[in-house]
Amino acid sequence: MRVTLKLATSLDGRIATASGESKWITGEAAREQGHKLRAMHSAVLVGVETAIADNPELTVRLPGYVGAQPVRVVLDSKQRLPTHLKLVTGAPRLDTVVIATSESADRLAKTGVRVLKVPASDGRPDPEMSLEALKRYLAIRLTQAVGGPAVTPAAGGKVFGVMIEGGGQVAASFLSAGLVDAIEWFRAPIILGDEGRPAVGDFVLEKLKDAPRFKRVEVISLGDDLWERYEKI
Ligand SMILES: NC(=O)c1ccc[n+]([C@@H]2O[C@H](COP(=O)([O-])OP(=O)(O)OC[C@H]3O[C@@H](n4cnc5c(N)ncnc54)[C@H](OP(=O)(O)O)[C@@H]3O)[C@@H](O)[C@H]2O)c1
Repeated sequence: MRVTLKLATSLDGRIATASGESKWITGEAAREQGHKLRAMHSAVLVGVETAIADNPELTVRLPGYVGAQPVRVVLDSKQRLPTHLKLVTGAPRLDTVVIATSESADRLAKTGVRVLKVPASDGRPDPEMSLEALKRYLAIRLTQAVGGPAVTPAAGGKVFGVMIEGGGQVAASFLSAGLVDAIEWFRAPIILGDEGRPAVGDFVLEKLKDAPRFKRVEVISLGDDLWERYEKI
């Protein structure tokens, strides 16, 4: 399954202020493109800290859009996702998955959120195992013709893939595991400084040659922002 990392950052690679404020770093055109990218993926994934800080819906909201919504996925080891969040309250009508390291707990399961248990690495869902579990889940959803929201099929210009929308810790986990195939980077002409939240969190790298390396395939101007597109080499 293809993994895309989407980032909306300042010029100095920050995704939020020190206090966690991130709405809206980029302008309207970049945000619209973000929705188009969601529409092209089977699933959209965030870390639980982003779910809590931003209370996102992770849906495609484009005028006239009638296609399938991506499955919404939260990496949440201990199933601590608060039930008042839009991701949880929308779960009865929108496919929503929590990837955890424990068995499904009633608190989330009874809201309609599907909990997938995967083995832990460093106490958190292992990124590779998480992708495997998600792939299996998406494959099952694709075969279900009726009942429940549809999953985007791998056809018609769409990719059978997941788009990671942050935050920095989740980006670091997937990048350091070498699991990111493409980066969609939206860069706004602002500076957030050293105390802003980094686009990529803790990441131990001893040698430059071991750094995940990407090839830039396109640069597009979107209003005041820049959209840079990268593919894994
Ligand atoms: N500008 C943008 O594009 C953008 C996008 C998204 C977020 N943001 C901002 O980023 C901030 C949140 O980012 P963040 O880096 O603090 O948190 P995050 O990456 O959203 O979430 C991190 C949490 O996810 C859980 N997790 C589960 N499995 C994981 C794994 N394999 N690897 C990493 N984390 C895993 C961990 O909590 P448990 O240990 O409890 O599971 C971890 O604390 C917010 O301020 C938000 O507004 C900005």
